[in-house]
Amino acid sequence: GEIGSMVLIPEIVDAVNIPVLGAGGIGRGRQMAAAMALGAQGVWCGSVWLTTEEAETHPVVKEKFLAATSADTIRSRSLTGKHARMLKSAWTEEWDRDDRPDPLGMPLQPILTTEAQKRIARAAHTKGSGAEKLANYFVGQIVGTMNQSKTSGQVVIEMIEEFIESVESLARQLEV
Ligand SMILES: Cc1cc2nc3c(=O)[nH]c(=O)nc-3n(C[C@H](O)[C@H](O)[C@H](O)COP(=O)(O)O)c2cc1C
Repeated sequence: GEIGSMVLIPEIVDAVNIPVLGAGGIGRGRQMAAAMALGAQGVWCGSVWLTTEEAETHPVVKEKFLAATSADTIRSRSLTGKHARMLKSAWTEEWDRDDRPDPLGMPLQPILTTEAQKRIARAAHTKGSGAEKLANYFVGQIVGTMNQSKTSGQVVIEMIEEFIESVESLARQLEV
């Protein structure tokens, strides 16, 4: 079991005397407003940048991200040896099989997989290849709302706009 941000952010905000950034699952203004409501002074975003035009995400992986739903990720030790959320792909399915060995620990699993990952990335450009099916990368559950490639500037502007709408809509609930 993991502790979700709904529980964790207010606990941390109450426990420390420094500014707190909310992180994890924040990719749009309503999520930013929620983190601020929980007491965070700001937010920290990761996944949302991976489908931006500036991102160095592998083009095959970028297309998979744009098509994925929030149910298409899995926590897996198959890339680093430590648990990390990533897109489900033939890679995670193979590592998940009952008849395969467990991934090694950090740093042995990356030593085992880095070269294979490089080859997968090179070969994945070939349509219909096994490598295309294997390709995946770290990403959070907000991948489900990452449906369109945008500039990172657009992502920021839209996030701020939806944050403002969201806060104004909450403020209206206080009007008599
Ligand atoms: C591709 C990728 C690589 C990341 N690498 C690291 C890392 O090396 N160390 C770390 O502490 N967090 C890492 N993170 C986590 C981010 O810093 C951030 O806390 C997290 O992605 C926030 O959740 P979100 O992806 O739902 O926005 C990574 C995230 C992504 C998407």
